[in-house]
Amino acid sequence: MELNTEIKISTDPIFRRISKVMPEMEWKIHAPLIHKINKLKKEKNALILAHNYQTPEIYHGIADFAADSLALAIEASKTKADIIVMCGVHFMAETAKLMSPNKKVLLPDMDAGCSLSSSITGEDVRLLKKKYPNVPVVSYVNTSADVKAETDVCCTSANAVKVVESLGVEKVIFLPDEYLAKYVASKTSVEIVSWKGTCMVHEQFTAKEINEIKELNPGIVVIAHPECPPDVIDAADFAGSTSGMSDYVKKNQPKKVMMVTECSMSDNVQVENPNVQFIRPCNLCPHMKKITLPKILDCLEKENNEIIIPNNLMHRARLSVERMASIGR
Ligand code: 13P
Ligand code: SF4
Repeated sequence: MELNTEIKISTDPIFRRISKVMPEMEWKIHAPLIHKINKLKKEKNALILAHNYQTPEIYHGIADFAADSLALAIEASKTKADIIVMCGVHFMAETAKLMSPNKKVLLPDMDAGCSLSSSITGEDVRLLKKKYPNVPVVSYVNTSADVKAETDVCCTSANAVKVVESLGVEKVIFLPDEYLAKYVASKTSVEIVSWKGTCMVHEQFTAKEINEIKELNPGIVVIAHPECPPDVIDAADFAGSTSGMSDYVKKNQPKKVMMVTECSMSDNVQVENPNVQFIRPCNLCPHMKKITLPKILDCLEKENNEIIIPNNLMHRARLSVERMASIGR
């Protein structure tokens, strides 16, 4: 397909930036959609938020703001736009709605879920609270509004230890990620009661795989997301949230790096760090990958797939994310 002059003028600068990670043949399919979406978002005063795991054509092509889940939540609370389109998964769109209840929040594919979020329900949390009376509940932001409504304070991997310690107690219920709970427990003296949830993407990495790559690539820097199993984090040089990982590369400019996380991260960070060589054993998040340019355009045109949070959950769930945001990074 040949691109017309108008599309070329508006999209060529983007292609020049991302050409290292985007074949020209593929770009020709994306460019007309990027052009349309960027025009439409201006006409509708819409803000496009994208998680770091979105593909480069979304992350670099149409996002007004791309970051980790904590920064996306905070950005959603500040916007003056009328519409927020969340290029991420369902809990991220729900969190944006909680932070900005008067905005129309759209999710391009309502089936973009998360294995952590679906591992626990509000009823599970109510039962845990009965079992551990007076023990505060800290929930990972990767949870439904139903779970957040039963939560004292939310956290992300960027501030989990800080949030747990902010409570000034000896014991907390920390939900639902078993591995993140272990990571937090290794950094604090607060006793952690955990749940058996896991991320279907990060649980697949093994320390054996990481050590083999280290042997084959002497001097490589390995950075991992704290949703990985503990022995993978032990084998890594640094662990942090998706933005923490990206900032680490920007600041340290390692010669060779491996990001132990979702595949699109390396592509997106490569664009911003052309001199760093990325070794890419990675796993795809099938939920994040449900978000595509055609679906984004369709949902922005029709303004469908709107996130609605029932009134009985709204206030309590909102308090838990506002507390998280006030604690910060
Ligand atoms: P971050 O909060 O680090 O962006 O992670 C969100 C997530 O879903 C990682 O799998
Ligand atoms: Fe959920 Fe894991 Fe996908 Fe993140 S990568 S959205 S935690 S399933």
